[in-house]
Amino acid sequence: MRENMKEEVVKRYSERISRNTRNSESLSCCYTDFVLTGESKVSENGCCKGSSSSDRFNKEMQDKLGNIDKQSFGCGNPVGLSSIMESDIVVDLGSGAGLDCIRAASSVGAKGKVVGVDLSDEMIARARQNAKTMQVDDRVSFVKGDIENIPLQDNYASLVISNCVIALAPDKKKVFSEVYRVLKPGGRFVISDIVSAGAIPMEMRDDMELFSSCVSGASQVDEYFAIIRNAGFTKIEELDRKSYGNLDQDRKRIEMFSITVRGYK
Ligand SMILES: C[S@@+](CC[C@H](N)C(=O)[O-])C[C@H]1O[C@@H](n2cnc3c(N)ncnc32)[C@H](O)[C@@H]1O
Repeated sequence: MRENMKEEVVKRYSERISRNTRNSESLSCCYTDFVLTGESKVSENGCCKGSSSSDRFNKEMQDKLGNIDKQSFGCGNPVGLSSIMESDIVVDLGSGAGLDCIRAASSVGAKGKVVGVDLSDEMIARARQNAKTMQVDDRVSFVKGDIENIPLQDNYASLVISNCVIALAPDKKKVFSEVYRVLKPGGRFVISDIVSAGAIPMEMRDDMELFSSCVSGASQVDEYFAIIRNAGFTKIEELDRKSYGNLDQDRKRIEMFSITVRGYK
């Protein structure tokens, strides 16, 4: 795996959100033209399938934030599957433009709070602007940080969510050990992510386009669950699974999935 993967990923998402200004036409979600047409390809554009903006974002968000599809890079609906309670302290890893944080804010009430963590300055700036527009900035804040080294204290959160981010992290064991560390005892995570049914060849893993499209950095599904178990979580449950297309190479077809998983500390 190339050394500068993480910096490259963040640069690419920063560029995407900067180009996706209100009402502009720009890149949509995860897959890029290269991925669809290059030698290594995803055979179907499955990005965000099953979590369309009308499922996830209410009319007020769509009207006020404008062009919401261009600001949403998720692959599942962790907020919808979290049963967020009043007074929950929610942390969103890789919060992007803050859309899931804004949704979570409407459930946590005055006693709760929501913290988004992202490594991109541009994403953090857009998320703060969106939270202000939606008038939830009293309950939602955003901090710059790496999900492999979450800038929050131990036992901080009652719920950790994440939407299509951990597949972009080179060290997934570190991410899940950090999720464990920042959760209070009894706390839970609900995470949507991309996984593969088979091993992804090394040359694809080093392909920056495939990697930053949440595809080639994905773990095999069994490995993913082993990482979660080894981090110490219990009552691990897959809440949702959707096809994310197929990765084709040399007539070999690797099925990709978007899954949403819950586990408890
Ligand atoms: C596919 S987007 C998902 C954004 C958001 N969760 C959503 O549903 O729209 C990935 C996000 O993760 C951020 N990111 C990637 N690697 C990261 C890391 N190691 N630490 C923190 N944020 C990261 C990117 O800047 C980007 O905002």
